[in-house]
Amino acid sequence: MAFESLGGNDMAAQREAINGILPFDPNELKDTVSGNIVNPYPRYEELRRESPVHVGAVDFGEGASDLNPDVPLPITVVGFDETVAVLRDNGLYSSCVYEIVTEAVMGRTILQMDEPEHREHRALVSPTFRSKVLARWEEELVRGIVDDLIDSFIDKGHVDLVQAITFNFPVQVIARILGLPQQDYPSFQRWAIELNSVAANWERGMAASAALRDYFAAVLDERRKNPADDLISELVHVELDGQRLDDEEIYSFLRLLLPAGVETTYRASGNLLFGLLTHPDQLNAVREDRSLIPQAFEESLRWEPPVAVVLRRAMESTELAGVPIEGGADVALMLGGANRDHRKYENPDEFNIFRKERQHVGFGFGVHVCMGMHLARMETRIALEAILDRLDDLKLDPAPGQDIRIEGLAFRSPVSLPVSFTAR
Ligand code: HEM
Repeated sequence: MAFESLGGNDMAAQREAINGILPFDPNELKDTVSGNIVNPYPRYEELRRESPVHVGAVDFGEGASDLNPDVPLPITVVGFDETVAVLRDNGLYSSCVYEIVTEAVMGRTILQMDEPEHREHRALVSPTFRSKVLARWEEELVRGIVDDLIDSFIDKGHVDLVQAITFNFPVQVIARILGLPQQDYPSFQRWAIELNSVAANWERGMAASAALRDYFAAVLDERRKNPADDLISELVHVELDGQRLDDEEIYSFLRLLLPAGVETTYRASGNLLFGLLTHPDQLNAVREDRSLIPQAFEESLRWEPPVAVVLRRAMESTELAGVPIEGGADVALMLGGANRDHRKYENPDEFNIFRKERQHVGFGFGVHVCMGMHLARMETRIALEAILDRLDDLKLDPAPGQDIRIEGLAFRSPVSLPVSFTAR
């Protein structure tokens, strides 16, 4: 895809329009954190030491859910090798499990497709998210967005990094790639997060889904008449087996990409900052040597994966780590459990950007591995570079009695990161 037609002036105008838009407070949507579980890791370890694979209901601190007697007992996996084995065998373990929730709110998406349908559909959008194609956004767009956000508080000496930066930059980046107008950012950021948290509030999620569909209908119409330099124009013209995608297929793609692009990176960059701010020696090391940023990000994704659970369904009866699994059983892969497997990592609970074992499943694994991982890595690196370039003496500065922490079960991140700093 070519974005070359977007010139520097457009970018500057876009950044100017973006500056100062703080659509809503992430605290308003606190229930989207999906449970205020603070530390699920001791429970994962306890379970893993019993067995990396469990049959039946598991209590993670919010009470075990009721079991449906008409379906096979659910499976919970908390080991690294076992998680990889499930994700690798995408014939035996199907993604169709997502039909229940995501199809209702997003429509049919690649997340729930199996091969070969999945491969064909993913190939339509994946070129846009290759690292080479993304390179041009680094300085042109991402750095500008983060610099503008920093400008809005640089004189204050104190800020909440979640409210001021991490909650705001990923939405602006994905919106530009899709080609959505800046004045709409506040609305679709809210819709994206409400849609993603449908499990916490069904009605609100469904309403957001309908709102996004109506919103995209107008954009599609416009792009058919006036194609522009963006992913939506590409999708209305692309062909699969000689056929154009129909509108519903495009809405589904967009309803997946928007929350995937908005919420995950916002949480991931918050977790990275939390890891560094609570380990000032490692923050200093990264400040001194920026080439450490990529490994710091990977370590934060291992230590605190923001997408903490992925699901599959066993298509026939099988066995995993010697544990029998009934055909048709839903399988929950606890990525946080896999990423802290004591059999794979030395001191797994320690945040250590210098650890040797860097492989993790924070972006999933196998054919459904995160399609936006290069974008997420690039955005987060640029954001951290801007923060380190412009804010010295950066440290956590909570109000008296304020507990700064990462929380959530399915999605995890800090709700707030108050810091003090001196401007450079
Ligand atoms: C650090 C931030 C991110 C994390 C931790 C993350 C995590 C994940 C995970 C774990 C999966 C696998 C789901 C499964 O196998 O069931 C996934 C899939 C996906 N991600 Fe991300 N993601 C991030 C950022 C993004 C961004 C920025 C985008 C795009 C704009 C994106 C788009 C997608 C898409 C489209 C899929 C589905 C791929 C498929 O089914 O083939 N993600 N992501």
